[in-house]
Amino acid sequence: MAGRFPSAWLDELYARVDIVSVVSGYLQLKKDGRRYWGLCPFHNEKTPSFSVNADLNLYYCFGCKAGGNVVQFVMEMERVSFQEAVKILADKAHMTVPEVQNDPDYERRRSERERLLAANREAAHFYHDMLWKPEGKQVLDYLHKRGLDDGIIRRFGLGASSDQWDDLIGHLTKKGFSKQEITLAGLAVNKGDHHFDMFRSRAMFPIIDQQGNVLGFGGRAMGDQKPKYLNTSDTPVFNKRKGVYAINLVKKIRDLKRILLVEGYMDVVAVTQAGIQGAVATLGTSLTNEQARLLKRYAPEVWIAYDGDEAGQHAIERAISIFDAEGVPVKVLSFPDKLDPDEMIRQRGTEAFLAVRPIGSVAFKMQRLRMQHDLETQDGRTEYAKQCAQILKDVKEPVEMENHLEALSVQTGFSKEVLMAQIGIAPESMGQHKAAQVRKDYTPKRSRLPETYKTEQTLLALLAMDKLPQGTVKAEDFSNQAFRQIAGDILSGKKPAQIMAEAETDEIRQAAGEVFTVLSDEEKKNPAAVAKDCLRHLHIQRLQEQINELTEFMRGAEDASAKEQALKEVMQLSKELAQLKQQGR
Ligand code: UTP
Ligand code: MN
Repeated sequence: MAGRFPSAWLDELYARVDIVSVVSGYLQLKKDGRRYWGLCPFHNEKTPSFSVNADLNLYYCFGCKAGGNVVQFVMEMERVSFQEAVKILADKAHMTVPEVQNDPDYERRRSERERLLAANREAAHFYHDMLWKPEGKQVLDYLHKRGLDDGIIRRFGLGASSDQWDDLIGHLTKKGFSKQEITLAGLAVNKGDHHFDMFRSRAMFPIIDQQGNVLGFGGRAMGDQKPKYLNTSDTPVFNKRKGVYAINLVKKIRDLKRILLVEGYMDVVAVTQAGIQGAVATLGTSLTNEQARLLKRYAPEVWIAYDGDEAGQHAIERAISIFDAEGVPVKVLSFPDKLDPDEMIRQRGTEAFLAVRPIGSVAFKMQRLRMQHDLETQDGRTEYAKQCAQILKDVKEPVEMENHLEALSVQTGFSKEVLMAQIGIAPESMGQHKAAQVRKDYTPKRSRLPETYKTEQTLLALLAMDKLPQGTVKAEDFSNQAFRQIAGDILSGKKPAQIMAEAETDEIRQAAGEVFTVLSDEEKKNPAAVAKDCLRHLHIQRLQEQINELTEFMRGAEDASAKEQALKEVMQLSKELAQLKQQGR
């Protein structure tokens, strides 16, 4: 985009154009309450999950998460640029298109991003083409030796970087990219005045996002060179903590039952070649909350299939706690003999891989504890039982609890009643108590989302509806980064349609799409009260987190006065917490 339309003019355009009638020109919509529903034009479906919100001038598909305002809808349907889409709509509304304005900073950021993505895309082509040339033969042979066929190599766009120090720089310069851009994209490094290709003599794995943008690369060394995998360092378009390898492929799978999270690029490719869908990996770091949230969008649960070695097993524990915190149901696949998924398939075959059954995260944690204790001794069994009891506190389903208790009782010799007491539940009340709790926590539609996320989402939705008294909510009230940005935009007076149009990342656009469509009619009736309740919830959650942190700190603290100080704070916070909870009654 070369510039921006004056925002007052755009506002008028949005006001005059009726999204329902525009969308109806392309597909059939049915009215239901204030919303319209139809079959999504952006993915194949039999039952409608595509919704149009006439009030907010937005569309959002609950199936494929496509969303935006009326301009974006036309952009997608007609495959035209923003400006062309605006012109089409202005024509319909009989409005004259004004001269575009320049907003240098916005333009700079946006065009820099586009330049870097273009450089990455060109680099990916370059590396891929290299594979079939003599200079790429070593890498191609290597990939074949690892069992990959040409089909899967093409599907993942794998490539080769040559052993020359400026092959890619030479190519990209010819294509019109400056050395500065090439370096900024992480494709070259400079020493003084000299620039060198970042990747040399490596098998190249392009990292591609949901929209098909090439964000960066992972490069596998041919021999024992270190590092074994070299990854693009963070750039304006690449953030290793946010991206997920192969998410571009996962996005295309309909009704995916589970994501298969593996450790390495090679595992993803090997598993996919074996015909197993939904494999992804993080980008050379351990799993982050952002990545867990991203994965949550594409399947109802995640199976972790990390390496069978100790490092891998330990990483599973960390990943489980992150998924737990993000409210993502997880299961674990454990491979024998320290194999990783790639080796498992190569050495034992796809059948053997598929025969490994997933276990629940609680069972996995108990299994890990079991290996750390000597169950031959009374002390070992007692300690093991205590630590398992800690884990079992989080189990909500009574039937699941019963299974774990049964197993633990057999392993340790303690009766189930004793174990229940250790967990902190009265035996006779177990059935009712737990069942009641489960029912109360159960929220059918959004049950996959964690509490905080849901609360923040509702709050933001109310804010977007413009129904809250001024000052009720601030951007800082949100812990979720995307939400904070959207809240800031709303508070600075931007309309939902504009926010969707200008969202800098897909994450923000999707979050906004969901936010602007998520409110139930019930919640719309009494926005101020619902908002107050949300804020109270967030406050409670934050206090609880602080208390947990301080308690954790006290456990490890050596210094007596620091400990005492922490204890005082915990008491103060607990008092506040009790009061807040009281208010909710
Ligand atoms: P592994 O060392 O388990 O590699 O690293 P792998 O997938 O089994 O690789 P192959 O089979 O030997 O080719 C798993 C992941 O950890 C990151 C990479 O993302 C890799 O895919 N990693 C590993 C690095 O980023 N740098 C390294 O030097 C090593
Ligand atoms: Mn491996």
